[in-house]
Amino acid sequence: MSFPDRRRFLSHLLGGTAATLALPSWLEGASAEGVRGVPYGGGEPEDEAYWERVKAQFSIAPGLILMNAANLCPSPYPIQETVFRHTRDVNRDASFQNRGKFGELKEEARQALAQYVGASTTEIAITRNTSEGNNSVVNGLDLGPGDEVILWDQNHPTNNVSWDVRARRWGFSVQRVTTPPGTGDPGELYDAFVSALTDRTRVLSFSHLSNVSGIRLPAKQLCAVARERGILTLVDGAQTFGFLDLHLRDLGCDFFTGSSHKWFVGPKEAGLLFVRTESQDRLWPSDVGVGWEGAEANGAQKFENMGQRDDAAVVTMAAAAAFHEAIGPAAIEARVTALASALKDRLSESIPGVRFHTPRDPALAGGVVVVALPNGSHREIFEALYETHNLGCASMGGAFDGIRLSPHLYNTMEEVDIAVEAVAYHA
Ligand SMILES: Cc1ncc(COP(=O)(O)O)c(C=O)c1O
Repeated sequence: MSFPDRRRFLSHLLGGTAATLALPSWLEGASAEGVRGVPYGGGEPEDEAYWERVKAQFSIAPGLILMNAANLCPSPYPIQETVFRHTRDVNRDASFQNRGKFGELKEEARQALAQYVGASTTEIAITRNTSEGNNSVVNGLDLGPGDEVILWDQNHPTNNVSWDVRARRWGFSVQRVTTPPGTGDPGELYDAFVSALTDRTRVLSFSHLSNVSGIRLPAKQLCAVARERGILTLVDGAQTFGFLDLHLRDLGCDFFTGSSHKWFVGPKEAGLLFVRTESQDRLWPSDVGVGWEGAEANGAQKFENMGQRDDAAVVTMAAAAAFHEAIGPAAIEARVTALASALKDRLSESIPGVRFHTPRDPALAGGVVVVALPNGSHREIFEALYETHNLGCASMGGAFDGIRLSPHLYNTMEEVDIAVEAVAYHA
């Protein structure tokens, strides 16, 4: 969706034109100009004044530099306030009558999410997180002896060992693809998967962007080749939902999963499972509960049928989508890309002998930067960065041994400089 279309959609959600909007209660803190003084439409990636205003939406502890978006993100005030308000409301009056409104609010959230990811409303299930979405696909497909599932060996456990456990029960086989380390060539990444496909392959399942290396796969091309061969695709979008300006119908996957509490800066323990309309009858629901009869006729809704939820978190997905729409998904993607590129450039200038597990080319990467330092234990450095430099990041082990820095829209270029200095101090 282009920016004007997104703005029209936001206006529609808000019940008027963006210029004269009547604010819905879930977008507390917004004004006609944007969200708490952040103008609509986003700033240029290098417009520090704009992104400082975005940063001011967050309640991050003063002095803390948080570069851990790949793991968990804070929510901005409007989203926090929306969760708190709904939570207080339920605790004030937990009657059926008072909670009846959540049904409608949840459908508004589904609609907002569908618009945000470029899907139809009946293709969206609101889950608890990426892990649940991945396991719904792993457990929901009809697979048996003779069938083969192809994975990336960098997949998260919920899209990795989960397939092994299922395969033990149902007798299909699981093959893993290793991509060439340090490659800067999208063709090599593509070829590694395509050469693994056989006429027995039924599913190709991969992380859109690896949480361990920061490599982004050519997902659209992989989904296209799989579709040509009648192979279903699961794209784990934990590291792209909320960062990339996504258009899932265009991406061409059958299934896509994401977590609200990562790059989407949304409510905690909420997530998204996209199930393409044409593939919905290939997936069995893992959970069947109250409301099944109604849900069955409503597309992907049948994949979220699992008892009492935290309604406050679920419905606040709408506010999170509106927050992204207000700034602009393309602007957020460009800003995160600029922050990650600056990190890579400045780390390589400041630390002789530094190595990147993450490609330098932004087209093959995203907001996750994994860097191997020449000296010392990365685990100890990770602890020291927090203890002595107030820098929140992560350490990786195994083949991707290193420090993982994942900046987001609440980081500034000045913070990039401070983070680089801190890492260089320990290198
Ligand atoms: C690629 C990937 N998939 C799945 C997950 C699991 O996310 P969650 O714990 O929100 O379910 C993660 C978490 O880091 C991840 O990086």
